[in-house]
Amino acid sequence: MWFERFSEQGAKFLGVPYPIISGGMTWVSNFELVKSVSENGAFPVFAGGNLPPDVFEKEVDHCLQELKKPFGVNLVTIAPNYRTQYEILKSKKIHFVIFAGSFPRKSDIQGMKRAGKKTMSFASTDSIAAQQIRFGIDSLILEGSEAGGHIGHVSLVVLLQQVLFQFGEVPIFVAGGIAKGRMIAHMLLMGAAGCQLGTRFVLSEECTAHANFKQALLQARARQAVATPQYDSRLPVVAVRAIKNKGTEEFGHLQLALLQELNARKITREKAQFQVENFWMGGLRRAVLEGDTEYGSLMAGQSVGLIDDILPLKTILRNLIQEAEEEFKRIEKKMCGLH
Ligand SMILES: Cc1cc2nc3c(=O)[nH]c(=O)nc-3n(C[C@H](O)[C@H](O)[C@H](O)COP(=O)(O)O)c2cc1C
Repeated sequence: MWFERFSEQGAKFLGVPYPIISGGMTWVSNFELVKSVSENGAFPVFAGGNLPPDVFEKEVDHCLQELKKPFGVNLVTIAPNYRTQYEILKSKKIHFVIFAGSFPRKSDIQGMKRAGKKTMSFASTDSIAAQQIRFGIDSLILEGSEAGGHIGHVSLVVLLQQVLFQFGEVPIFVAGGIAKGRMIAHMLLMGAAGCQLGTRFVLSEECTAHANFKQALLQARARQAVATPQYDSRLPVVAVRAIKNKGTEEFGHLQLALLQELNARKITREKAQFQVENFWMGGLRRAVLEGDTEYGSLMAGQSVGLIDDILPLKTILRNLIQEAEEEFKRIEKKMCGLH
């Protein structure tokens, strides 16, 4: 089987049958989703988001008790509860820590490694990839700007050439806009250790996100999943890709109001940025847990345009692997001049 052969490195690294990662998604990647992904042979990531420390610890313990295979925990380095979550995680017997939000410091990577965990982080440019490798990171995730949630500015096609083709020191997983097995086959052929998907797993039967949230994603087209703009360099905002709604407009108003306050020196830059981050955390909660699709944040990748069904996880993964296998066979025939 070609899929098995090309996914060997990633599967071995992650310790699961298929090197397909269900990316950590704040409020979405809870115990239920993590458990189902794990039971179906892929690699699950629990999302720490900004969960209060006691809830975070309880959920991590729950995963540890119930899951038989390795899993990861996603820590958002810019979340107010990051430091406490970090310390809690260090003492737990989890296998992988995925640093998100911004780039982890060397001491944070080394601290987790000393505690026996494998570390992963996102690389949005070649210099960041080089830095993270120097810091001792065990693996990188290349997430293109097509992805859902907080995003970088560079598309996956460029990152593949800038990072995947240049760095061989650590396994590299790729993310953003991937929802078909055929694409997974090509990513593996290019040298990726595996793929991380987010939106595809939101639209699974096992995902406990509110039905309104899932329906909004299901109905959206690729071009409706838009990235938020930054109006002024004095108020740097990490772009968020979400389906456009009244919440997106409100975010624009909030930015303009904060800029006025900055101009009048009524607020510090740090406080303004904190309000921006709070807006998204709260907005996502409203959409995912309460089903507010009008004002909540409908974070999703452009991959919404590739998905038109909510399926059981088992079927999703079976389809992805089958499609990948068929693509490998198609390429093999083409290479041998049979087609
Ligand atoms: C609703 C939602 C929430 C997300 N939250 C996080 C997060 O908390 N941490 C993180 O590293 N990535 C987050 N992501 C990104 C995903 O982990 C994944 O990398 C991304 O969705 C891949 O792109 P795709 O949706 O096109 O597959 C989020 C994505 C979505 C759709």
